[in-house]
Amino acid sequence: MSTAPGSPHPASPVEAVLHALFERHRSTLEGQVADYIPELSNADPRAFGICIATRDGHVYEVGDTRQPFTIQSISKALVYGLALQDRGEEEILRRIGVEPSGDAFNAISLRPGSGAPFNPMINAGAIAACGLLDKDAAGSRIARVLEFLSGFAGRALDIDEAVYRSESETGHRNRAIGWMLRNVGILDEDPTDTLETYFRQCAVRVTCRDLALMAATLANHGLHPVTGQVAVQPGAVRNILSVMSTCGMYDASGEWIYRVGLPAKSGVGGGVMAVLPGQLGIGVFSPPLDAQGNSVRGVRVCTDLSRELSLHLF
Ligand code: DON
Repeated sequence: MSTAPGSPHPASPVEAVLHALFERHRSTLEGQVADYIPELSNADPRAFGICIATRDGHVYEVGDTRQPFTIQSISKALVYGLALQDRGEEEILRRIGVEPSGDAFNAISLRPGSGAPFNPMINAGAIAACGLLDKDAAGSRIARVLEFLSGFAGRALDIDEAVYRSESETGHRNRAIGWMLRNVGILDEDPTDTLETYFRQCAVRVTCRDLALMAATLANHGLHPVTGQVAVQPGAVRNILSVMSTCGMYDASGEWIYRVGLPAKSGVGGGVMAVLPGQLGIGVFSPPLDAQGNSVRGVRVCTDLSRELSLHLF
């Protein structure tokens, strides 16, 4: 279903829209590639891909949709589902809130009273979710996370070891968050191993196409549209999409749901995944980020796509 950017004969009306959006936004120079994880600063700011996958397995793509990059925070939405499956909704809700924080993704903040992180999409909540994964299950935690994320992609994913090492060498703010979670009893153990698992989880390598299929799996109640495998239980899908709707784009979540109207999650690797429940998934890849840590082109493409294909949920 893929045609080269600029191809005069897109194969379908959806591809025609993708090509037009690609041309409209490809020369955008705004935004900065993330560099607080030093290895991410090597990303090519011109890389750009857009992909839509439908729940019946059609894939439409334009641009750099097969180029690998790290999933980063997009993993948080999915691993939250694994934590829910492992521990059950009640325990997870006791330890991780579902309120938008209105703060930056790496804020050092916990809810007054309970000490729980505001939500599972910010680093504090994602580190907590990672620490709450079942340690007695067969296989290491990172092996389970990798297998779980691979189920959403429909292929075996791997870890970018250079990005992992780079974040592990510099991620002291996240270590502070981990120890804070230990201090208030949200985590029961020394968080060192949890933090390394979290850094590896963020360094899982995906493509823009993978993101669209991951989103389509969420749109399809947890069933991968191509492999037919169950990636996550349907009950967890509802929880995941709810927190993506309210918290997935951090302190831009309100504006996002107003303008785009789709549950979504971004990552500092430049990926954005958005879900139209029951219908389709969208993946966009473009490394330059705005002040909130969301891909500039990712936000613009999804805003235009939502308007031009009438995808807004409300
Ligand atoms: O923990 C971090 O800072 C990164 N591994 C992930 C942050 C991220 O992707 C925020 N997203 N837009």
